[in-house]
Amino acid sequence: MKMKIAVIAGDGIGPEIMTEAVRALRTVSDRFGHTAELTEYPVGGAAYDLCGDCLPEETLQACREADAVLLGAVGGPKWDALPAEKRPERRALLTLRSELGLFGNLRPAKTWEALKEASPLKAEIVGEGIDLLVVRELTGGLYFGEKRRSGDGRSAFDGLPYSVDEIERIARTAFDAARKRRGKVTSVDKANILETSRLWRETVTALGRSEYSDVELDHLYVDNAAMQLVRRPGQFDVILTENMFGDILSDEASQITGSIGMLPSASIGAGGKGMYEPIHGSAPDIAGRGIANPLAAILSVAMLLRYSFGLADEADTVERAVGAVLAEGLRTADIARPGETPVSTVAIGAAVSAAIRRA
Ligand SMILES: NC(=O)c1ccc[n+]([C@@H]2O[C@H](COP(=O)([O-])OP(=O)(O)OC[C@H]3O[C@@H](n4cnc5c(N)ncnc54)[C@H](O)[C@@H]3O)[C@@H](O)[C@H]2O)c1
Repeated sequence: MKMKIAVIAGDGIGPEIMTEAVRALRTVSDRFGHTAELTEYPVGGAAYDLCGDCLPEETLQACREADAVLLGAVGGPKWDALPAEKRPERRALLTLRSELGLFGNLRPAKTWEALKEASPLKAEIVGEGIDLLVVRELTGGLYFGEKRRSGDGRSAFDGLPYSVDEIERIARTAFDAARKRRGKVTSVDKANILETSRLWRETVTALGRSEYSDVELDHLYVDNAAMQLVRRPGQFDVILTENMFGDILSDEASQITGSIGMLPSASIGAGGKGMYEPIHGSAPDIAGRGIANPLAAILSVAMLLRYSFGLADEADTVERAVGAVLAEGLRTADIARPGETPVSTVAIGAAVSAAIRRA
């Protein structure tokens, strides 16, 4: 398969982790006989310093034309004084999401056998391990609804619109993902209070019955879901939810694994288009020191293979290589236990690529 991928490393630790992600992507492509056409473009503060724009037109156009985008991280104190609309996070990330039509956000949260003790939850709650995927609607609901303030400034209003089409589109993403996982979707809403949640529940239920009867579907109110995530996280496979609930629940879910340097994400649109990136930021406090954990970026490569190109074996190979390297005891500083000697970004990245080659 030929894959056309725009690589945008960004700021801080972005270039360091992206070097290792690209190495993993090239290795797995060679191993399985695919052609990865990778081209790097400037984005974020680095692009601002070059040309006064955190998302140059050339970068945006390249991302539009690519099958998928692999992103490191953007932002840092150097650009914090810029006006909000010019800052890397807003100008680059939000513009890319809307320009590429990315309507769904996929955030897996998984405990790795070798890192189980990193979870802030008690061992008996983590149990056999946590392996869930939050599928969040990204372009509708409260964050995009009508907003207004009354004339006297003493009351305000935010609308929460959702249409059947928007709900079906993201629900399909969740059901399809569940089919590739353990076959269970938990749809989260507040249908006891909100009219949009009632529409959400009806629509998801109808779609489940008509097109995905092989996938188990249940429903939870959002307050209960927030509680269950820390009481019994092992019960979840795919959590499907709307924009604001997903914003909150995906952050909660990521915390229960305990290691920010290990968590990838995908923002996906129609026709397999997607943008893949670690959930962490540019970590300016450790940038340039060669100690950042590249595994979230490497696991973003696995998501890219799985969700933009349907290459499940290749994605599994990358994920298993990460597991193998952790099992060998290699750790960057952020995941090292007391007494363990941390290895560098390059060392752990090279070890993952070697494990991919061996697979
Ligand atoms: N998607 C993105 O590009 C994105 C996301 C979040 C924050 N940001 C931006 O990143 C900058 C820094 O933000 P922050 O400090 O709040 O969050 P951060 O995620 O960059 O860092 C939080 C803490 O986690 C550590 N950390 C993060 N990733 C790591 C990794 N791969 N390996 C080892 N340690 C890691 C950092 O050293 C830091 O101590 C800000 O400018 C922020 O706006 C960008």
